[in-house]
Amino acid sequence: MATYGSPLYVYSRTDIEDNWRQFDQAFGTHPHLVCYAVKANSNLAVLNVLAKCGAGFDIVSVGELERVLAAGGNANKCVFSGVAKTVIEIERALEVGVRCFNVESASELQRIETVAKSVNKKAPISIRVNPNVDAKTHPYISTGLKENKFGIDIDEAIDLYKKAQNSEFLDIQGLDCHIGSQITDVSPFLDALDKVLALVEQLNDQGIHIHHLDLGGGVGIDYEGEETIDIQAYVDAIISQVGKTEIILEPGRAIVGNAGIFITKVEFLKQNSDHEFAIVDGAMNDLLRPSFYNAYHNVLPINQNPTGITAQWDIVGPICETGDFLAKNRDLSLSEGDYLAVMSAGAYGFTMSSNYNSRPRVAEVMVSDTKHQCIRKRETIQDLFAQEKLYGY
Ligand code: LLP
Repeated sequence: MATYGSPLYVYSRTDIEDNWRQFDQAFGTHPHLVCYAVKANSNLAVLNVLAKCGAGFDIVSVGELERVLAAGGNANKCVFSGVAKTVIEIERALEVGVRCFNVESASELQRIETVAKSVNKKAPISIRVNPNVDAKTHPYISTGLKENKFGIDIDEAIDLYKKAQNSEFLDIQGLDCHIGSQITDVSPFLDALDKVLALVEQLNDQGIHIHHLDLGGGVGIDYEGEETIDIQAYVDAIISQVGKTEIILEPGRAIVGNAGIFITKVEFLKQNSDHEFAIVDGAMNDLLRPSFYNAYHNVLPINQNPTGITAQWDIVGPICETGDFLAKNRDLSLSEGDYLAVMSAGAYGFTMSSNYNSRPRVAEVMVSDTKHQCIRKRETIQDLFAQEKLYGY
């Protein structure tokens, strides 16, 4: 902390590599591509570590695509997801040659065809179907139900595939689904797989053959001691049902979530009549998950001070919002000046951070063995308004 300051994100390179390899190796010789979901943590150094492992990438914007390329990733290992790809994004993705567009609506398919035609290329596509299964996760991160905006009704997908098959500028590659995030039970994944395989059969009957099945991301991690999915068992269950079809997975959280922590410093201890607050220098703009999803992150003291005050603390930030908390009711012994580690913060931590309350975004550090390195400088106050201009009268 003396070197990098506080607050701070710290990631373990070895953990990131190990987590990715766990997915990759689970497939053995079965054709597969593990496409890391960039949105979970898009720092160039993180992407570079994964690119060196041979990872593919699941991207949702041209910004993420450019990050992958800048980090040494291969465009032809990128699947392009997201509900509203713009013309510019499609053009760039075709130019660099992404592996596949995961298409989310009839209009989007039309747009991809039009752009492909304009640059005289064949766009590789896969239709993202909505299998209407309940992922049994937080409603904000459930995506595979009919009421969610994602994907195409599984019953309507066949018509789109027929359209794609008749197009000179579309090249059917696969079938895609993603049912949600932080899923800790394998059964919703297998229910979705059943539905997707039924569609593959229907497509085969129509003479439409797909080369890969993309089953999305969503594998949950242990935040507070919950049982999670056994990746080998999950992959074995997939392989046992798909013949020789190539499988693509898009894990994000499972690769980086538990490979990162958020470090914050206790500024003040404040004891009201029935509440104890530890006011820390990190806030909801740095780590939004607790405020936004009421998500639980374990909090551990870094420099446990035996003379600290033992209580049930609410760990809150300096932002002017009652919802600005990182954790509630934690039994900790704390002193002002202590550092705390907010655990499991490697996924959707920094990437969801903002400058709210004009707070510069924090630094990021990567460690491996005994080495540590800054992988993103802390923003300066000048950075905050560098793009702004006074209004000219
Ligand atoms: N593929 C697609 C199409 C996705 O939409 C997502 C996540 C993933 C893959 C990666 O899912 P994962 O393996 O990380 O669960 N901000 C929320 C999570 C939002 C997830 C959005 N989509 C959170 O902090 O919990």
